[in-house]
Formats: sequence, structure tokens, C-alpha cells
Amino acid sequence: MKKAVRLDKFLADAGAGTRSEVKKLIQKGRVQVNGAAAKKPEEKIAETDEVLLDGERIGAAPEFVYYLLHKPAGYVSATEDSRDRTVLELIPPELRRKGLFPVGRLDKDTEGLLLITDDGALAHELLSPKKHVEKTYYAQVEGEMTPVDAASFEEGIDIGEKNRTLPAKLEILSSKGGKSEILLTICEGKFHQVKRMVKAVGKEVTYLKRISMGSLILSEDLKKGECRPLTENEIKGLKNR
Ligand code: URA
Repeated sequence: MKKAVRLDKFLADAGAGTRSEVKKLIQKGRVQVNGAAAKKPEEKIAETDEVLLDGERIGAAPEFVYYLLHKPAGYVSATEDSRDRTVLELIPPELRRKGLFPVGRLDKDTEGLLLITDDGALAHELLSPKKHVEKTYYAQVEGEMTPVDAASFEEGIDIGEKNRTLPAKLEILSSKGGKSEILLTICEGKFHQVKRMVKAVGKEVTYLKRISMGSLILSEDLKKGECRPLTENEIKGLKNR
């Protein structure tokens, strides 16, 4: 078995502290490797070695991490921005790591499900126009959406791009008194797509929230601004589509 990683890096990657903090933990004798107190930060650790900190097993850091964020309005879907707060600022410090980014964009005023990861290959798959990953949005609309609009969305409509939109499913939850509530499922990710589709049929989105993306669903218990790691099943669901 390959002895690949230095003990101090292994501990730091697993979230036990910074490189200098974990060196101090080692000096104080709080770290054991395979039952013996570790002495050297540069000792090499393999996957099969048992590393304990204060008697608790420390696992190797996963290759990639996946977080489901309930994005609130007011944050931009970017890794850095000179003016606005970014969605990455909502990731708690203990879950942050280098290379995290949001998979796709929600507008600054859009709320809801946003996947944050450092797995570029999965992000590429999910965002590829060829993969047709379904995204469902709940929207409040100024104007009354009609079955005719649903038929137009089903056929694909002109939103001022070279091609019409791909077939999208419109479910009208309510439509009366000059207002509507809808669910719209699209399988593309054109800029401002939902707002532009609704505008193309003469109405206006006043509130927008993404509630699902592929097999991932925003559950009620995740409050606005909160994030949580995906479960193993959720990760598998996204990978095996
Ligand atoms: N469509 C929009 O118009 N805005 C979003 O944020 C997402 C989809």
C-alpha cells in the first residue's frame, strides 16, 4: 500500500486544524497512528492506517465535497465579487475548502436549491446542454397564466435566442385576480430563462425559487441561507443519471 500523505496534511485535510495547529497536536501527543503516539508531522499515512485524535478516529478527507445550499435573495452565484455577497460566504467555515464553486447560476434575487461542489467533472455533466437535466422552479407571477401558455411552453417559445426553448412543463397552481403561482420545469439553463419565458407570454415573474435539480430536491427543513452535505444516495443519484 502506498504511503501517500504526510500526517500533518492528512489531519489538516480532515479538518483537524491548520498545518501549524495539527503540528502542535502531534507534539502534545494527542495523535496516535496505529496505536502508538505519533511523533513526526512528516510521517507518511496510508488509507489503511488508523489515525486517532484524542482517541477519535480521523478519516481521510473525501476527494470531493457536495453541498446543497438554500440560497436566499441578495447573494450572487459566484466565487468572488467586488460588490455583492457571494453564495460561498454562506458555507460555514468548517465546510469550506479550496476550489468550491456553485453549479450554475441563480439570479441575485432568485432563491432556492443551489449545488456547491469542487467536483468539476460532475458540474460539467449537470450543466451540459446535451444532458437536459431538469430544473423545477416555483414562481409567483404578475398576470394570469393560462393553459395556452402551458401549450406554448410545451412546444418551445421564442425568447430572443437563435433557437426556441426546449419543451418545458408548466403547472398552474393558481391563476386569478391578475396573479398566478406556477411550477415550471425546464431542461436548459439559458440566462434568466424562466423570467424571459414568462415575459414572452406577456406576464412577469415577481418571485422565483428553484425547488429541484435532477434528482436533488430542496427539502422544507433546510432554512434559507443554510447548507448541508449531500447524502451518499443523493451523490449517487446525480452521478448515475
Ligand atoms: N431562470 C431565471 O430567470 N432566473 C434564475 O435565477 C433561474 C432560472
